[in-house]
Amino acid sequence: MKIKWGVIGCGGIADRRTLPGMMLANNAELVAVMDANKEAAERCKEKYQAKYAFDSIEELLALDEIQAVYIASPVFCHKEQAFAAAKAKKDILIEKPVGLTAAEAEEIAAFCEAQGVKLGVGFMMRFHAYHQEIKKLVQSGQIGEVVSARAQFTCWYPKIENSWRQDKTLSGGGAMMDMGVHCIDLIRYITGLEVVETAGMCGNQIFEYSVEDAGSVMMRLENGAIAYVDSNFNIPDDAAKCKLEFYGTKGSIFAQGTLAQAEGGTVEVLCADDSVGYDANQNRKEIQPLDIQVEFGNMYTKEIEQFGEAVLGNRDIPITAVDAIASQKVVESAYAGNQSKTYQVL
Ligand SMILES: NC(=O)c1ccc[n+]([C@@H]2O[C@H](COP(=O)([O-])OP(=O)(O)OC[C@H]3O[C@@H](n4cnc5c(N)ncnc54)[C@H](O)[C@@H]3O)[C@@H](O)[C@H]2O)c1
Repeated sequence: MKIKWGVIGCGGIADRRTLPGMMLANNAELVAVMDANKEAAERCKEKYQAKYAFDSIEELLALDEIQAVYIASPVFCHKEQAFAAAKAKKDILIEKPVGLTAAEAEEIAAFCEAQGVKLGVGFMMRFHAYHQEIKKLVQSGQIGEVVSARAQFTCWYPKIENSWRQDKTLSGGGAMMDMGVHCIDLIRYITGLEVVETAGMCGNQIFEYSVEDAGSVMMRLENGAIAYVDSNFNIPDDAAKCKLEFYGTKGSIFAQGTLAQAEGGTVEVLCADDSVGYDANQNRKEIQPLDIQVEFGNMYTKEIEQFGEAVLGNRDIPITAVDAIASQKVVESAYAGNQSKTYQVL
C-alpha cells in the first residue's frame, strides 16, 4: 500500500534530496506540491510528476486523498503549517528544527497529539548505513563503555541578502541549530544515552548576521561520558572533514565523511585490550581495524519509507518530536551558555 504525499516547500532540501528520495520509495506516491513561490511548485510538479502544484497550503490540505505531508519550508513557517496540516488530519513529516524554539516545537507536538496525527522529524542522518552499523557496534558493547564522543559538521556560509537562515527570528539559530543539531541527534541516537548537562559557547567571528557563525557544546551523557559537538558556518567546505568519533573502554570508532546528504564516507573501528595494566611508557601498538561492510542506500528514501510505514501503522514513528526537542534543547543551552558559565538541561 502506498502513502499519498503532499509536499510543502519545494526549495533546497525538498528538490535536491527528499523528492528524489521519495521517487525511489516503495510505499510513496507524490500527489501534490506547494510552495509560496508558484514557479518552484510548478517546477517540482513537472520534475516529479505530481498531479497538482499550489501556492496555497489550504488547497493542498483540501485534497482528501493526501494522507501525509512533508514540511520543508523555512523554520518560521513550520508552526502555522504544521497546525494547519494537523487540523486537516494529515500525518506530518517535518524538517528539523521542528520549531523556531524547543518551546514552539513542544506546542507543535502537543497540537499534533491532540488532533490525533503522527509527527515525525527529518533527522535523515540516522538512516545512513554507517550510522546504523556504528549504533549496532556501540550498543553491542564492541567498544566497551562509551566514555567520549565528538562530532563536527560545518560549511562555508557567507552573508547572503534576505537569507531566512541567517536571520535568527526566521531560523531560530545558526550553525548549531542548522548543522550541529544533527551531531547532537546522532550522538544521542548511537549511544542511546540522554544528555544530562551541557556547557556551550556560540558567537560570530567572521560573518555579521544575527545567527551564530560558530558554536560548540560539551554534553555530559547519562552514563557520565563527555561528548563534544562543534559547528561552523565559517570553514570552507573542502577544509572540513566532518568527523564523528566514539571512544570506549575497549576501543574507538572514527567516521569521516558520513555527516553528509548522501551516503558515503569511511569508518574505522579499533578494538583494544582493556585487561592490560597501566603502561607508563604509553607505547601504542598498531591495531588492525575491524572489517566493516555496509550497503549504501538513500537516506531520504529510507526516511520517507519508514515514516510511511508508521503512517500505515506497521511500525513506530522512526524519529519523534520528543527526540528532536531533546536535541534542540541542547542547542538552546549552548546559546544560553553565552550568558552563564554552566547550564543544567535536565
Ligand atoms: N535534513 C536535511 O538534510 C536538511 C537539509 C537542508 C535543510 N533542511 C531543513 O529543511 C527546511 C527547509 O530548508 P531549505 O534549505 O530547503 O530552505 P530553502 O530556502 O532552500 O527552501 C525553502 C522553500 O520554501 C519556500 N517557502 C517559503 N515560504 C513558504 C511558505 N510560507 N509556504 C511554503 N513554502 C514556502 C521557498 O520558496 C523555498 O522554495 C528547514 O527546516 C531546514 O532546516 C534539512
